[in-house]
Amino acid sequence: MIIRQLQDTPADAAAVESVSRAAFRDPADGGDGPPPAPAQLVRELARTVHAIQHDQPGCWIAEQDGEAVGVALSMRREGLWLLSLFAVLPSAQNQGVGRLLLEQAGTYGRGCLRGMLCASPSPAAARRYRRAGFTLHPTIRLTGTVDRAGLIDPGDIPVHPGNPTHRHLLDSVDRRVRGSAHGVDHDFMLAHYDELLIADTLAGSGYCYRTGGAVKLLAATSKRIATRLLREALARTPDGAEVVIDCLTAEQEWAVDVGLEVGLSLSTEGYLAVRGMRPPAPYIPNPAFL
Ligand SMILES: CC(C)(COP(=O)(O)OP(=O)(O)OC[C@H]1O[C@@H](n2cnc3c(N)ncnc32)[C@H](O)[C@@H]1OP(=O)(O)O)[C@@H](O)C(=O)NCCC(=O)NCCS
Repeated sequence: MIIRQLQDTPADAAAVESVSRAAFRDPADGGDGPPPAPAQLVRELARTVHAIQHDQPGCWIAEQDGEAVGVALSMRREGLWLLSLFAVLPSAQNQGVGRLLLEQAGTYGRGCLRGMLCASPSPAAARRYRRAGFTLHPTIRLTGTVDRAGLIDPGDIPVHPGNPTHRHLLDSVDRRVRGSAHGVDHDFMLAHYDELLIADTLAGSGYCYRTGGAVKLLAATSKRIATRLLREALARTPDGAEVVIDCLTAEQEWAVDVGLEVGLSLSTEGYLAVRGMRPPAPYIPNPAFL
């Protein structure tokens, strides 16, 4: 087996997608599971290309006899190391491939005092992350459709659509809430998600990305602003769309309460794993960009 850095080629991007799909498939589906919707496939390939272009030393692939068997994508943003994707083909699991990939990706995080990732419920993943020094915070997932009767009067905090001219504001909120800006990741999110919402008042600021029924990232300088942004994002989901809000630790009770207002269901998911920091709050992380 060899482990090498990913290259910015269509073949490597496709290999990341196919390993990831096979690793995360629901065993009940059999085979490699259903292919992703075309828009989702485009987004996933673009996410890999984005990671390789901006963080190539953090992006690794394991190959056995020329076939991709495992991948790890990681990035660094202002002293914060982030693991964006970690997957090994089912047929190659439990043979140490994940450990080697995580060690390689981890060397890219040397010198970063802080680290963060969204972990799946996989016991193997949890073992790897704890062994790598991460603190595991169990997370909640909110799902369902929005009961519009539960949407509360917006009150006096204005929310408006955002665009690339808000980049400084976004990075400032990121630095305040999670200790590092998303930087170039905002370019990706602006290009690939349906909408960016901004709240910017004398009392505080925040932003939220949403696409379809999914809330992709939310950061704000107060719970009041965060709550307002989440209510607005949910109000803007298409009628009947399946809502998914992932990776909520107990720190995000404000978000859980908004979800309950509009009839969403709670379930337990994986973990938010952090090293050298507390879970950011008020904050809804993006599993790919955290
Ligand atoms: C998580 C994943 C990438 C790990 O890759 P891997 O190649 O299987 O990892 P390794 O073989 O290096 O290590 C797995 C460890 O978990 C342990 N393990 C496996 N199954 C376990 C279980 N059910 N309970 C407890 N420990 C378990 C193994 O013993 C091994 O520990 P050790 O090396 O200390 O003995 C892989 O399992 C995977 O792709 N899972 C599905 C996708 C996923 O959840 N990815 C993580 C996203 S956050």
